[in-house]
Amino acid sequence: MSPIELQHLPVLPRKRDYGIGICGAGGIVNDAHLPAYRKAGFNVMGVFDARREAAERTAARFEIPRVYDSLDQLLADRRVDVVDIAVPATENLKIVETVAAAGKPMLIQKPLAEDDETARRTVAAIDRHGVLAAVNQQMRWEPGVRATMDLISRGLLGELFSIAFLVFVDTPWHMWPWLMQKSTVDVLYHSIHYLDAIRFLTGLEPASVFCDGTTLPGYTTNGETRLCLHLMYGDSQMRATILTNHHASCGLEGQQSEFRVEGVEGAAIRKMGLLMNYPKGVPDGFRFTSRRLGDRRWVNVEFGETWIPDAFVGPMASLMRAMSGEIERPETDVHDNLKTLRLVFAAYESMRTRSVVPVKA
Ligand SMILES: NC(=O)c1ccc[n+]([C@@H]2O[C@H](COP(=O)([O-])OP(=O)(O)OC[C@H]3O[C@@H](n4cnc5c(N)ncnc54)[C@H](O)[C@@H]3O)[C@@H](O)[C@H]2O)c1
Repeated sequence: MSPIELQHLPVLPRKRDYGIGICGAGGIVNDAHLPAYRKAGFNVMGVFDARREAAERTAARFEIPRVYDSLDQLLADRRVDVVDIAVPATENLKIVETVAAAGKPMLIQKPLAEDDETARRTVAAIDRHGVLAAVNQQMRWEPGVRATMDLISRGLLGELFSIAFLVFVDTPWHMWPWLMQKSTVDVLYHSIHYLDAIRFLTGLEPASVFCDGTTLPGYTTNGETRLCLHLMYGDSQMRATILTNHHASCGLEGQQSEFRVEGVEGAAIRKMGLLMNYPKGVPDGFRFTSRRLGDRRWVNVEFGETWIPDAFVGPMASLMRAMSGEIERPETDVHDNLKTLRLVFAAYESMRTRSVVPVKA
């Protein structure tokens, strides 16, 4: 029994019936966006995909009233208040430019772009038209991340000094053959979630980054599938580390998928069950301890929600709250996302130069 009730769910918008137009009806929209929106009671008006049959299948499965022939047709529908973009990152810039020119707010899947220049051009297009835009960095709403943030906000962990993501799993990369062609794999497409969550939990920007990345002997990929990524914070003792090996293939018993957040007054440990035996997963876990609660016992907490699909409510809820003026900007506003991306690109520079790289402002 937990001595406190942890807040692990997103704050829902007061106005929930904004019309959502979906652009891209692929795997993540079907597996995560739409199941989450259904749970939250969001109002999906229509869907467009470059492959019409994909849009039709998705519309039938989730009872979405309209399938559009083009992005322009989606944008011309006055019932669409917000556009949810989930296409390959290389398509984002031109779609974002069109949506921004139509004056509609948007949520864009991560990564916003694959390089710094394109990311900045994408944000500039959004700013030119003054529309609200957020990036779908939904790990910030992963129930264990939210609960840890609640512990931090209540002062129960004290000053943070260590965050570690330890992920030794057997990722079925064959599910994403396009990803294996990329020269940037783990940091840009996977650990970007951890980098964003670390920024969220610490509220700090690292001063420098070290990253070493490689793959498995004999494995066919152009990018890194194993990592050691270390964030340093100038004179402070705070450190954050990401260790991943996506080739822990000796059975579940030898796997580990957790993050741990430690402060001078307490600690929280989250088991991310989803990444083990993916995509079926195993049960999550969450435990914490705090000296401020009087004793040294660890408390186990079970949440009814998990990363996929439940965390996908968060970014859309936050964008809707910004649309109705409840908050000034969505939590994962594109400008904030540039700060996550600059850590991604600093990590690649570190990998290339085999050196500690300062994080540029
Ligand atoms: N946890 C996460 O946040 C998470 C997980 C998986 C994927 N993603 C991201 O979501 C995005 C989509 O991934 P996915 O796994 O669904 O890919 P997918 O290949 O399954 O689906 C992409 C869809 O986009 C459509 N498409 C491509 N170009 C288009 C265009 N110009 N206009 C309209 N439709 C277009 C394709 O036809 C396809 O149906 C990627 O950016 C990926 O990085 C995020």
